[in-house]
Amino acid sequence: MAGGDARCMLKSPPMIFERLLHSQGFGTRRQCRALIEGGAVTVGDQVLDDPDAEMAPEGLSFIVDGVRWEYCEHVYLMLHKPAGFECSRDPQHHASVFSLLPRPLVERNVQCVGRLDQDTTGLLLLSDDGAFVHQNTSPKRKVPKRYRVTTARPLEEGQLDALRAGVMLRDEAQPLAALAAVRESTTTLLLTIQEGKYHQVKRMVAATGNHVEALHREAIGALTLPAALGPGAWRWLGDAELAALRPPAPGSDRALAG
Ligand code: URA
Repeated sequence: MAGGDARCMLKSPPMIFERLLHSQGFGTRRQCRALIEGGAVTVGDQVLDDPDAEMAPEGLSFIVDGVRWEYCEHVYLMLHKPAGFECSRDPQHHASVFSLLPRPLVERNVQCVGRLDQDTTGLLLLSDDGAFVHQNTSPKRKVPKRYRVTTARPLEEGQLDALRAGVMLRDEAQPLAALAAVRESTTTLLLTIQEGKYHQVKRMVAATGNHVEALHREAIGALTLPAALGPGAWRWLGDAELAALRPPAPGSDRALAG
C-alpha cells in the first residue's frame, strides 16, 4: 500500500502512534491501541508496541498485519470500476465499489469523485479530501470526461452532429452539447462531455434516437485509465496526476492556457 507520491508530502506535527494509526483508518483509538500493544504493527524492521510513542507522520512507513502502508494526510486514488458495482456506500441492487478497497481506506470515508452507473465501467476517482472532490465535480470547473460508448444501432452522421450541437434533455434548462463526438466504428463513439448530469451520456445518445449498449469512462481531464489497471483494481494517484487534476494556480501557465 506504500507509494511515495503526492498523498504523503504534506507536513504534519508529531503525533502519538495510537492517534496516527487512527487517522489512517485502522479503527477507533481504543482498537488502534490494542493493535499496537498486541504487536501487530511494525515500523522499520521492529515491532512498535508503544501506543504513546511520538513520531513525525510524514514519510512514515509501517506494516499492519503484514500489509505495508505509508502515512498520508489524504487519500487520492483511481479505481477501474467493473460493471455490476454501485457508487454508493448503501447499494440497493449490486455490490458497492467500496467493497473493492481495503478496509482502512473505506474507514477514512473516501468518496467517489462523481458517480458512474452500476453498468458503466472505467475510471473512477476516490478521495477523502472534500475540497478535491468538490473541485473535480463542480459544474463551474467543467472538467472534461471522455467515454467510449457502444451503441445498439449504427451511428449516423446526423446523430453525431446532434451530439456536437447540443440535445435538449428533460428537466434541463439548456441543451447539452458534447465537447467532442468521434466515431470509432459503426457502433462505437468517443464522447467527451464537461458536465456530470444524471445518466447524461445515456440520455444524450437516446435523444439522438440511438441507445447506449455499453459505457466505459476512459479519461477525466488529462488523466487516462492506465491499460495496466484491470477491472476491480485500484492504485494511488501519483504527484503529477494529482497536480493535473487540481485547479491551476491563478496566473500559472495552465491557468492562462485555460
Ligand atoms: N453518463 C451516463 O449515462 N452514465 C454514467 O455512468 C456516466 C455518464
